[in-house]
Amino acid sequence: MDETRYPDSLPQHVAIIMDGNGRWAQQRHRPRLFGHKAGADSVREAVETAREVGIRHLTLYAFSTENWQRPGLEVKGLMGLLKNYLQSELDNMKNNGIRLACFGQKDRLPDEVRGMLDQVIAETKLCSKLRLNLCLSYGSRAEMIGAMQEISRKCVSGELNPEEIDDQLFSDHLYSTGQPDPDLLIRTSGEQRLSNFLLWQLSYAELYFTDVPWPDFRRDQFLAALEEYAGRQRRFGKTGAQAEAACVSS
Ligand code: IPE
Ligand code: IPE
Ligand code: MG
Repeated sequence: MDETRYPDSLPQHVAIIMDGNGRWAQQRHRPRLFGHKAGADSVREAVETAREVGIRHLTLYAFSTENWQRPGLEVKGLMGLLKNYLQSELDNMKNNGIRLACFGQKDRLPDEVRGMLDQVIAETKLCSKLRLNLCLSYGSRAEMIGAMQEISRKCVSGELNPEEIDDQLFSDHLYSTGQPDPDLLIRTSGEQRLSNFLLWQLSYAELYFTDVPWPDFRRDQFLAALEEYAGRQRRFGKTGAQAEAACVSS
């Protein structure tokens, strides 16, 4: 993509449902884990591309609350890959200004993965070029219920008045607190559903679905998604003419 052609059209925040590793492997008569390994290389390339083009927030759906239901061996393999990924990327993240966060139920992860995650989060906390949010044991409904419980506790204790609950306050109780909502959601591998991903935060995101499976989703595919995004008109409930006028005046 030619970034100079679309100076204002780069999304600040991109979220990706990285789907299709298993089918990619099965087509090659290989075990599903082979697909997850190839998918880890696509993660590296997506992070690198995001950083290079100047995206400020990248949120990757790596493991859902529902994914715990998969065969034990696949879950174990995925956790191992995750640990390797974190170990191998720590220096790269520090050198390239990438700050890691985890969205999800960290306490459900195996100890060694959680330990590695905590280390990378701590060691990259001052990095400021790109915020990389890895969604692990993540489910949007669990996230929102957690937020509601915390808000309710504050109301019961008197710290908060129910009238003070608004969009901003609710957002501040989610994992994504302090970060803008995604502008663009990408889902690979043909499925057109949200699978319990960022249901609140994606309210006004542009949706991009591609048949390309995640292991084949590399730099060029990412740039094609950004190119398509650049051509979309975001109206936020206004008319096309109003949106156009807002664009010109900003
Ligand atoms: C996405 O690929 C990775 C995870 C959900 C962990 P899948 O493993 O869902 O691949 P398919 O959808 O079975 O092909
Ligand atoms: C969604 O993919 C979760 C991740 C990409 C981590 P799934 O492959 O688990 O989604 P469904 O169950 O097919 O909707
Ligand atoms: Mg899938």
